[in-house]
Formats: sequence, C-alpha cells, structure tokens
Amino acid sequence: MTIRQLDPADAAAMEQSYQLAVAVTQYDVPDFPTPSRQDHLARFEDPLAAALLAWEGGRVVGAASYQLPQSENLMYLDLVVHPQYRCRGIGTRLLEEVYAVARQHERGLIEVEAVRALPGGVARDEAGYRYLTNRSHRPGATSIRSRCQIADHAGGDAATLADGYSSPRCRAG
Ligand SMILES: CC(C)(COP(=O)(O)OP(=O)(O)OC[C@H]1O[C@@H](n2cnc3c(N)ncnc32)[C@H](O)[C@@H]1OP(=O)(O)O)[C@@H](O)C(=O)NCCC(=O)NCCS
Repeated sequence: MTIRQLDPADAAAMEQSYQLAVAVTQYDVPDFPTPSRQDHLARFEDPLAAALLAWEGGRVVGAASYQLPQSENLMYLDLVVHPQYRCRGIGTRLLEEVYAVARQHERGLIEVEAVRALPGGVARDEAGYRYLTNRSHRPGATSIRSRCQIADHAGGDAATLADGYSSPRCRAG
C-alpha cells in the first residue's frame, strides 16, 4: 500500500476518490443520499483543501481529505477506508500522515466526524467512533439529522406539533 497526495488535475485519481466516497456511504450510511460527484470535485477547487490517497494495486482504497482554515488553528478531516480493505492498518497509516501534515502547518486541533446510532434509530457500525476515541480524540459536538415522514405529516399548522411541545421563548412578552 502506498500513500500519495491527490493531484486535483489527475482525473482518474479524482474519479477513484469519488467512487471510494460512494462505496463508503453505501456501506456505512446506506440511508444517506449518494454523494454528489460535482460537490466532491468542487471541494478540491478550494486551495485550502487537499487529500492523501491510499493506493493498493492501482485502486484507491482509503482517503484522508482535509481542509486547513486560514484563520484558525484547526484541521478539518474526513478519513475513510473502503469497507473491503478495513482492519489492515490503512486508516492508521493515513492518520499518521495526517498528524505530520497538521504539525507541518502548525495545526493544534484536528476535527473529524463519525456516526453513531440513536436510541431506537437506524443501526450504525460505530467502528469509526470507537477508532477515534481509542486514539485520544474526544467527542466535541453531536449533530443530529432529524427526519419527518411527509406521508404522516398533516400540514404546517400547530396541530401537528408533538404533545407537550411549547415554545416559551417565542411566546414570551
Ligand atoms: C475508521 C476507519 C477509517 C478505520 O480504518 P481501518 O483501515 O479499518 O483502520 P485500521 O486497520 O488502521 O485499524 C482498524 C481499527 O478499527 C477497528 N475496527 C475496524 N472495523 C471495526 C468494526 N467493524 N467493529 C469494531 N472495530 C472495528 C479495529 O478494531 C481497529 O481499532 P484498534 O486499532 O483501536 O483496535 C474505517 O473503519 C472507516 O472508514 N470507517 C468509516 C468512516 C468513518 O467513520 N470515519 C470517521 C472516523 S475516522
């Protein structure tokens, strides 16, 4: 396995990195929409965005995409390994390289997202979350995707609000 910086001018590598994002989404969050190719490619038009790709036999099997915001001490990271290539050390090798890039750019904080299951919600493989918390990453914030089945939703009036719901802030004064 070799790790190389993604060259945004390399159309074949860009396409492979997109196909990796599709495979990971279908495996880890099959109820999420398929990533948009256009959004994926547009990400790398930002000069502050870059990616390290893990290659195995001419195939992209892992990616660490990151952004280095200009005015902060942060690195935003998206780390993924193809489901068929997990548990072979690829994620760990990518993460080591990411730490080196962060140090090189004097970034003291790396932020990365992982999914977890909600009580009574869709089952999720929490390998990513456990992977991070086993490596001195600490949970920073929870982001919830809320869903409303339109078929069960009578309309936009107050009668559709859940039992017991009130909005004290809006009614005050
Ligand atoms: C997290 C991820 C990048 C790890 O990649 P990887 O190449 O499998 O990582 P490595 O082979 O270096 O290490 C495997 C680790 O994941 C754990 N792991 C992998 N699959 C697992 C599973 N299904 N259940 C539990 N643990 C699992 C292994 O126990 C090991 O952790 P440990 O070293 O703390 O014991 C990969 O699982 C992934 O792409 N997940 C989905 C994306 C994601 O959640 N990204 C955000 C978090 S980084």
